[in-house]
Amino acid sequence: MEPLRIAVVVGSTRRGRVGDGIGRWAAEVVGRRQAVEVRLVDLVDFEFPPSYPEQPTPAMRRFAAHVAWADGFVVVTPEYNRSFPASLKQAIDYAYDEWHAKAAAFVSYGYRSAGVIAVEQLRTVFTELHVMTTRDGVAINLLDDGPLESEHHRQAATAMLDQLIWWAAALRAARRAHPYVS
Ligand SMILES: Cc1cc2nc3c(=O)[nH]c(=O)nc-3n(C[C@H](O)[C@H](O)[C@H](O)COP(=O)(O)O)c2cc1C
Repeated sequence: MEPLRIAVVVGSTRRGRVGDGIGRWAAEVVGRRQAVEVRLVDLVDFEFPPSYPEQPTPAMRRFAAHVAWADGFVVVTPEYNRSFPASLKQAIDYAYDEWHAKAAAFVSYGYRSAGVIAVEQLRTVFTELHVMTTRDGVAINLLDDGPLESEHHRQAATAMLDQLIWWAAALRAARRAHPYVS
């Protein structure tokens, strides 16, 4: 079977961030699945413009090409003031059709709320982009949860990826059978 393409998008670009380590872990967990090709898309690797330009820049096009490549996404997001970081919203807004009729799951992290408030806001954003989001995700409480490779996180990742892969495969088949209706 043709491998399903999953992009792991690392949303924090903050200096001293913990998001890079969590993103690498998420990519490794995705990569353990059969028939899946994983690509780590770390927003720190893109020199995006300071304001939204009239024409897309090479970095914007490069990001949109990763979105176009993928059948599904694992979005790795921290919570900043009960939302997701501006760096992630900036990037999301650089693609449009490329997101359509695809699936996304979330690995969130933060202090006590473990990023789940940020995730609920991301669901709203992805609804606008015709992206199906999974019910289950991985939510990491940085203060209490201990190592990433815990049984708790492993079980959460299993449920999340079962759902993501189901949706991503179903939507890929549907996109190929019929043009999407947006
Ligand atoms: C500006 C800012 C706001 C934050 N607000 C929240 C918050 O509302 N809820 C929460 O659980 N953690 C909050 N935190 C804690 C972050 O989730 C935590 O520092 C995490 O490491 C940030 O991700 P990063 O290190 O990958 O950038 C905040 C951190 C920052 C820098």
